[in-house]
Amino acid sequence: MLLIISFFIVSIFLLFIFSLFHTIFHQKLRYCSCEICHAYLTSSWRNDFVNLSDWYAHLLRRSPTSTIKVHVLNSVVTANPSNVEHILKTRFHNYPKGKQFSVILGDLLGRGIFNSDGDTWRFQRKLASLELGSVSVRVFAHEIVKTEIETRLIPVLTSFSTNPSSVLDLQDVFRRFSFNTISKLSFGFDADCLRLPFPTSEFAVAFDAASTLSAKRALAPFPLLWKIKRIFKIGSEKELKESINVINRLAGDLIKQRRLSGLTGKKNDLISRFMAVLAEDDDEYLRDIVVSFLLAGRDTVAAGLTGFFWLLTHHPKVENRIKEELDRVMGPGFDSVTSSCDEMRDMNYLHAALYESMRLYPPVQFDSKFALNDDVLADGTFVKRGTKVTYHPYAMGRMARIWGPDYQEFKPDRWLDNQGKFRPENPVKYPVFQAGARVCVGKEMAIMEMKSIAVAMIRKFKMQVAGPGSTEMLRFAPGLTATVNGGLPVMIREREA
Ligand code: HEM
Repeated sequence: MLLIISFFIVSIFLLFIFSLFHTIFHQKLRYCSCEICHAYLTSSWRNDFVNLSDWYAHLLRRSPTSTIKVHVLNSVVTANPSNVEHILKTRFHNYPKGKQFSVILGDLLGRGIFNSDGDTWRFQRKLASLELGSVSVRVFAHEIVKTEIETRLIPVLTSFSTNPSSVLDLQDVFRRFSFNTISKLSFGFDADCLRLPFPTSEFAVAFDAASTLSAKRALAPFPLLWKIKRIFKIGSEKELKESINVINRLAGDLIKQRRLSGLTGKKNDLISRFMAVLAEDDDEYLRDIVVSFLLAGRDTVAAGLTGFFWLLTHHPKVENRIKEELDRVMGPGFDSVTSSCDEMRDMNYLHAALYESMRLYPPVQFDSKFALNDDVLADGTFVKRGTKVTYHPYAMGRMARIWGPDYQEFKPDRWLDNQGKFRPENPVKYPVFQAGARVCVGKEMAIMEMKSIAVAMIRKFKMQVAGPGSTEMLRFAPGLTATVNGGLPVMIREREA
């Protein structure tokens, strides 16, 4: 026994030494003492900033080209729209997700759409676009959202509103709502997690942990450390592995059930479409598709709504203007809380307020690609092959160069033309849904869902952020999508007639 333990310890030690030399000589251990790298490595940026993204926004505002290099991460970060156009459109083929990205997220996302390039990506993209773009699926999605609002969201909110001092975490409610919706749309499966008392979903817990731990890999200045931990299944890597096992088991059950229920007749959900064209036994690929869509549809929508309602509770004038618009389009009162697609189309101010809130609080705060070959960005920045190139929607929403000197203000009017109609921005200036060939395929569905929830909640309830942190800025936890530390606790009451 003693021999085995000694052998194990010596192996770890030798592997560590080997890895260190490998890093130094082959991967070039990227130590750098420049101001940015020093602040990153020592976390001294925390002395002045609450969130890593706020620090990046500060650095990018200070840079004359709106671009910086973080040498220790071998990364270029930009908030320059011309560079975003270059990366996502003009030189799209030189900026795939790349091998590095797929190594970091491969355990969680496998070959899913978020983690693939080339033919694997094209195949999933085509099917997903066909599905989400079809009229029947749009109607189906609207029906799902409407039913969730009427039968689940409103009863839960009403129940909390009867006790004015009880506190509800809206971020959690939005996550439950969007998880129910995306599960039904993608797999015809009712997750049923938005009811009282709130059930603990093993799947959701595992999903959150896996997403956070995977994101931490991407932020590590010495990636070899997590790779060693993975080999020995220790620490955060052990936890990640366990979370992924839970996800795999539950996704596997879901696929099995779906196969058993058969594919007779036209089904609107995404998985039916994928099952119809994939090989019978490729359950692993189906699992990857499932996980990517859950990630895409759940956390993004919830993050967008969390930022929106946080801003709204601090801007009563904007809230009143939305309420007035809803009364004008749907008629006064609050009996009807769900709106038709035609009614939603007429809600220009609400639409503008949602876009404006995601300018300041984008659900995906930054997004990275890897340079396939040496290149020069539109602003003249040299990019060496293998460099991580990150565009930063969070910072871009906070640049005076893009939005003017009032960029810090929450001002939906900046999205309206003289007639009060919504005026979209060029996506390279506002890449909240990305831009170019990989632009979000769920954008329309996401906006419909967010608008529907906003209509129902603003028409029927008033919310107030609870607790001492109610006037502070939002603090985010590391993750693939924006997650507010501590959630969004609110007190809620019904509006008076
Ligand atoms: C406010 C909500 C949403 C935001 C802000 C958002 C944003 C984004 C962003 C930034 C990307 C690019 C990610 C990357 O390439 O790394 C993306 C891709 C994607 N989104 Fe969304 N998304 C939202 C909602 C949704 C919903 C509801 C769905 C599904 C119904 C969805 C499906 C997808 C898919 C499948 C992709 C991958 C596209 C590709 O790689 O070709 N998204 N989204």
